[in-house]
Parts: sequence; structure tokens; C-alpha cells
Amino acid sequence: MIMKRLLSALFIFQSLLCSSAAEQPFIPQPAEYTVNDGFFIIPDSLKISSNLSPSLTNQIISELEHPFKISENNPDIILSLDPSIGEEGYTLNIKPKSIQISASNDKGLYYGIQSLYQLFNQNGRKNKTIQSCYINDYPRFQYRALMLDPVRYFIPKEEVKKIIDIASSLKFNTLHMHLSDDNGWRLEIKKYPKLTEVGAWRVEREEYFPGRMNQQSPEEPTPVGGYYSQEDMKEIVEYASEKYINVIPEIEMPAHAAAAIASYPELACPVVDKFVGVFPGIGGPDASIIMCGGNDKVYDFYCDVLDEVIDIFPSQYIHLGGDEADKSIWKQCPLCNSRIKNENLDGYEGLQAYFMDRINSYVKSKGRTSMGWDEVTYGNPKEEMVILGWQGDGNVAVKDAAKSGRKFIMTPAKTLYLIRYQGPQWFEPMTYFGNNTMKDAYEYEPVKENWSPELKKLLLGIQGSLWTEFCNSDQDVEYLLFPRLIAIADASWRPEKSANYQGFLNALDNFLPELDKREICYAKSMYNIQHKALPTGESVKLDLVCERPDVEIIYSTENGEEKFNNPLFFSKPVKLTANTYLDGKPVGKELQLNLNFNSATGKKVSSKNCKNNISEVLTNGLRGSEKHSDFEWAGWHGEDAEFIIDLENSQKINNCILGTIGSSDFCVAMPSEVTIFGSEDGKNYSFISSFKTPEELIYAKGAQKFDINFGNLDVNARYLKFVAKNPGRVPEGFPRWGAPVWIYFDEVIVN
Ligand code: ACM
Ligand code: ZN
Repeated sequence: MIMKRLLSALFIFQSLLCSSAAEQPFIPQPAEYTVNDGFFIIPDSLKISSNLSPSLTNQIISELEHPFKISENNPDIILSLDPSIGEEGYTLNIKPKSIQISASNDKGLYYGIQSLYQLFNQNGRKNKTIQSCYINDYPRFQYRALMLDPVRYFIPKEEVKKIIDIASSLKFNTLHMHLSDDNGWRLEIKKYPKLTEVGAWRVEREEYFPGRMNQQSPEEPTPVGGYYSQEDMKEIVEYASEKYINVIPEIEMPAHAAAAIASYPELACPVVDKFVGVFPGIGGPDASIIMCGGNDKVYDFYCDVLDEVIDIFPSQYIHLGGDEADKSIWKQCPLCNSRIKNENLDGYEGLQAYFMDRINSYVKSKGRTSMGWDEVTYGNPKEEMVILGWQGDGNVAVKDAAKSGRKFIMTPAKTLYLIRYQGPQWFEPMTYFGNNTMKDAYEYEPVKENWSPELKKLLLGIQGSLWTEFCNSDQDVEYLLFPRLIAIADASWRPEKSANYQGFLNALDNFLPELDKREICYAKSMYNIQHKALPTGESVKLDLVCERPDVEIIYSTENGEEKFNNPLFFSKPVKLTANTYLDGKPVGKELQLNLNFNSATGKKVSSKNCKNNISEVLTNGLRGSEKHSDFEWAGWHGEDAEFIIDLENSQKINNCILGTIGSSDFCVAMPSEVTIFGSEDGKNYSFISSFKTPEELIYAKGAQKFDINFGNLDVNARYLKFVAKNPGRVPEGFPRWGAPVWIYFDEVIVN
């Protein structure tokens, strides 16, 4: 008997292991999932019994997209309220004769229905039967959010609703709407009609966002933009609320406010005497034109605006922005300076804290709670505020929480900013910064091992934030959101330490046809190949990596087609193409590599201060693209570059070429001068040649690759040392002028 019990316990344990780990079909992954014996046959029309009102029952059951009627007689689905279940949790018990969903409230029942929907609809097909199972589910985090930026690209109301539909099905409960910024004011405010008559519209400019620095002149037409009327916004809020999503409005202050200042110029510091229009792109020096912290009218303006905002949004949280406030105009402003003196404030950060506190007290007097980006902690505001940690890996918010006890939310730019590249950059449309892949988002773990239990309690949750600087259509928005948003849904819901990437991919494959059904234009970047070619001294070692470990990589060269298993080694030129395959079908974009050989190819590189630590690419035989961040370019930031190539034996050098790039929208300059030195022993170097970049090329507009050709050299050397001068700082009139520039090199070609 004991043996039998042991065996049956072992069997249950094994089935738990199998079902809850590798085979669970849900996104997000539930807290507990057990497969049971038997099947439920889905009838053509479901009979529903419910503790909820008929209208609420209808609303929730409609999510199943399956015919139903409410009936207590032999119900197929029983929705019942059970106060012992936690907030947002539910149990789903599927038996051969019926399905029972229990929760303490309608929201939990809604989530139970979303899980059931995923069983009814798998792989783009409607199931006829579903396996008996039991789910006990609840979220890890109480705050699971997506931020949309309808400022840089105005996202139409219907598109916002489309995103709400899918986000709610993934059990997100919060939509943060970034409604005002330098590039537009997007919400009708009746007391200040110019905010949308003027502030919602900008001039037409063609270039990419960072390059659009050519500001509006006073008489220029402003055809680009849009805004949500109060009726539109109420409709969005109501629509979201029916899907259990709370919409948090963000009204930026004191910076990122050029659209408001374009509408009401008297709100800027009185020292600003120039015309301010809505910015078409990044503001450059105009970004320092912010709301005056010394003018009481500014505070009245925000309180009036918030009166109307609070009427539209029932959200407990109201976001007050607070990021990236350049204080240089405050420093010149008599009103700001007297405010600091009269209120005895701690400098300009103290003035920002005073600003935030003053508006925050108003928000509090209305019974709401303020949120702010992590810079608001610099001046240590007195009022309670929830902080969104975005800088770097969210550390500013974490440090502040540990010190001040403020609650916080993690939306680190490094992982959860959806503006970034989501896969190998050779295949991606142009956007900002580095890579945040779907896998990075899936594996995101906000809590570090060294956090105290108190600090852990202050973390409310996580948020994926989509900035739309590079979006020009709804499809661009969807492309950046998906599939990464699905991965963030999982990271915000599944139990701590339960990540199982392959299990997620299996569930994702089931789920992707749902995106097709909803006509969502999602990225397939997860199927693309990132190549990594490194010199070994004798040859070039080529690795091909895909974010999905479950795909097959097939490559072909002139020798035919092969499956890629291990790194390849090349010591002569090769043209290679490769793609990924799932179930025998190609799924990625074809990678084409043209590996060339010269005397430096495959040879070892040593370097000083290479900021992105990939100076080996200089001799890997591959050229970079026009994206300096594509991992084929070795970069130096604000410093001169120095690198040495060891050719392994002394040889005659006839000619040398060094590949460089300028990209004026991204602080990338060409080196002002490059000098080559040669050596036989690696110790004593003598001058070989130098090149001075023509002044007009150093910071030419746009992105261009340029090969520095050192001409006929006719010298002998074993070691070649390159010293490249960094031209210093971004010149006036370019994005981020005054910032230290980057210089990049992709290849050294020696013959
Ligand atoms: C931010 O990215 N400036 C919040
Ligand atoms: Zn001022």
C-alpha cells in the first residue's frame, strides 16, 4: 500500500514537473498548473452560470469569442466569487463535464477567462476539446504596465484600443500615456485651448527624429500632429477599464514642455526672448527652455490642467514627468533665483523638488498619488511620489528607495525601453541605442540578490516603455511593441525565479497566430542571426547565434549547404549566406557575409580604451553597416583611439586602409587625424604615415562610411600602431551639441 502511494506521489510529482515547466501553454505563465485526466468537449454554444450581474458576465464571457447563453441549467462554465482568493488571482478547474473559474472579484474572473481563451484558441485554430487541468494563478507584481508615447508619433484612438485589447489579454493592468512633451501636447484642455490648437501641431521635417533640429520659424505651417479630445480620451479610459486596464496620464513638468510653451510662451522664464515652436525632433539647445519655476502662473497652469486631467482619468496615479530638466535657463532667470532665495531652497535641484512638491500637494489634495521619472529624486521631494526607474538599469530609483522608502517601478532603458533595436541591427529599421531583444525582456529580473526584504516590498512592478521617435505609422508602433510586450507580460506575472525560456518560446509559437488574427504587424527579429567574427591569430572564427536556440541554422558557401553546429574557421575569402529554420521552413532574414582577407585579417588586435570592447572586429574580414552600433564597429568615446595589429612576421607593407564612419544624428564623428606607426619588436615604433580628415567631413550631416586610404607606403613592419584623434565635442547645430563624440572603426586593410 505504502509502495503504491509512493509510486502515485512520484507520478503526480512527475506530471507536475512536466506540465508546469516545459509544456504549459499559457502566456503569461501561471503560478501553478496541473494536467488532469480527461477532456472537456467544447459545445457549439456554452451555458454560463455566474455570480456576477448579467451585464458583467456578458462582458467577461464575450472575451472567449465563442457563442454562449447565461443558464443555471447544467452550465458548461461556472463563474463564482470566492473571497478567499487574492486580488487579481483566480482558479481555473477544467473537468470533463464543466469548467469552474473562481476569483474574489470580476477582474480575477476576467483573467481566468483570458487563460481559458488561450486553451480554446491554440496555434491559430479553435480547439474542439481541451485537456482537463487545474490552474491556481496570481500575478507576481501588482503593477504590470505598458507606456505609450503618442507625442512623437500621434497614435490614433482606434490603434490605442487595439493595443489595449492585446495588452489586457496578456493580463497587463496599466497603460501609462505620455501625453505631453516638446513634440506635442495630445490632450484637449478646455481652459487652455491653445494647447491643442497650437501645441498639438508641428512642422513637417523629413529626416530621422534626431536630425530634425531645424526648428519651426514663426510663420511656418504646422500640419503634423493630432490630439485626443476629452471625449476621445474618456472613451479610451472607459474602454480600457472594461478590460481591467487603468490608464495613467502623464503631464510633463518642468521640462519636456516645449509644446505647452509654444502655446503659452509666458510660461517660460522671462529671460527666454526667442520664438518657441513645437519641436519637430530633438531640441538641441532649445531643450533647456523649460517651465519657469519662479512664476506662480506656471503652478496655476498645471493645477488647472490637472483639474481637467483628474476629471477624465479615475486613476489613483497621476504622472508628473520630471525627467531631464536642464537647469541652464533657470540659472539665468531672476524669478527662479528669487524663488530659491525666498523659499531657502537647495539650489536648482531644490527648485525642481519644490516644483514637484507644489504640484504634488495639489494632486494629493484631490485624493490622488503622483508618479515621476527617477530624476525627481535628485532634489529629494518631500511629498510621497512613486518613482519610475529608467536610467541605466533603474539604479537611481533603487538607490532612492533604499534611502527614502519611496515606492518604485522598474522600466530600465537598458532592457525595457522598446524603442531600442530588438535584434541583429543589419535587419532592423533605424532606431536609437543598443539592442533590447525579446529574450532580454523575457529574462528581465528587477530584484537583485542583495536587496533587503524592505526594498523588495517597495517595488510595485515593471513597465515596458515605448518611445515613438522612430515611428511614422501604426505598423511601426506595433513592430516595436511585439513580440517584446508578450515577453514583458510574462516577466511581470510569472512567479519569481520561474523563467523557462524554451517553455516560453513554445507557448509563444502558439500565441503568435493570435497576433496575425488581430492584424498586428510584429517583428520577426527573434529568428535573425547575429554573427560574431573574431580573429584567432591564424584565421577568423565565425559564430552564428540566434536568439531562439530551437531553430536550425543552415549556411551555405561555394562548398554547399551545411547545418551550423559549431564555430567555423576561415583562412581564405568566403561568401557565406545563412538562415534559420523551424520545422524545415526558413523563418529569418538571410544573412549574407562577405569575408575578405588581407594581410591583417585574422591577426590579433590590442587596444587602449575601446569603449565597446570589440576592437577585435578591426581584423575580422567583415565590414560594418551604416549603423555604427551594429557590433561591427569598434568605438572610442570622448578619447583618442589607439590600437595595434600584430602581423606575426615582418613584411613589406604597400598600402593600408582604415574604415571609419560619421553619423551626425548620433554623436559619431570621423577622427580628425590618424597616424600609423610601425615596429619590428612591438616596442620601438616609428612614423609611417598620417591622414588629416578634411574639416567638412569630420562632422558631415547624416551617416556615411569613409575609408581612409594611406596611399603607397612601401615600408617593412611586423606591428602596426594606429593613433586616431578624437575631434572632441559635437559642434553647434547637431543633436546633443557639446557632448563628447564617438569615433568608430570597422576594419584595417593591409596589403
Ligand atoms: C526618459 O526616458 N527621459 C524618461
Ligand atoms: Zn524662471
